[in-house]
Amino acid sequence: MARRKFVCGNWKMHRTRAEGRELVRALAPLVADAGDRVQIAIAPPFTALEAAAQALASPTGARIELAAQDCHWEPQGAFTGEVSPAMLADAGCVHCVVGHSERRQFFGETDEGVRKKAAALLKAGVLPIVCVGETLQEREAGRTLDVVSRQVRGALQGLAAADVALLTLAYEPVWAIGTGKTATTAQAQEVHAAIRKLLRELAGDAADRVRIQYGGSVKPDNAAELMAQPDVDGALVGGASLKAADFSQIVKGALR
Ligand code: PGA
Repeated sequence: MARRKFVCGNWKMHRTRAEGRELVRALAPLVADAGDRVQIAIAPPFTALEAAAQALASPTGARIELAAQDCHWEPQGAFTGEVSPAMLADAGCVHCVVGHSERRQFFGETDEGVRKKAAALLKAGVLPIVCVGETLQEREAGRTLDVVSRQVRGALQGLAAADVALLTLAYEPVWAIGTGKTATTAQAQEVHAAIRKLLRELAGDAADRVRIQYGGSVKPDNAAELMAQPDVDGALVGGASLKAADFSQIVKGALR
């Protein structure tokens, strides 16, 4: 089944409001032509979401969707520092990244937390991008598929197949994030195919609809080859999404 490729830029903790607006204005015209064939999103920090949303409200910007980088699972309450899925929807977010390895590594994110966040997002009408991926140590110990399966099972537990179909998964080997080391196309395809197989086990034919992005040092010169793999349905891009020219090249790599 042909799945529309999906490329999302994860700005992480970068860009003020003014810088975000500037980046959106530079990016929008560069990807305007690709927007009907590739789904494109950017995930600015919370503080720049509104500025980015305003900058996207132009005829070319309309091709780019807004995403958040994380959320809490409750709709509201006494959770200092947190932002709810409903608040993200209100800010114009179509998507939200959950379970990013930096959250797992530095902020104690668990599979259970990822599951609750994904379910809460779906309830609020925001589409989750669920990140999974092994560390270098886990890869070297031959545990990649075990770790990734555990993370996928954890995130999907209790979800109906119709909800699973709405998810995007992002396979991001931790050793490839921000390191300049990209997984080879064969390494990426192997894990993506294993994830697809597991999805089929868990949710039947919905597996064919789930986009599985690759993430980890995606650059203009490796994006097209990675996304040409049968089970690589797009990219989650960190560093290179902060440069309009690089990100637009990566988006175009999805067209080949
Ligand atoms: P990177 O980050 O492209 O800078 O490696 C990817 C990510 O963390 O999503």
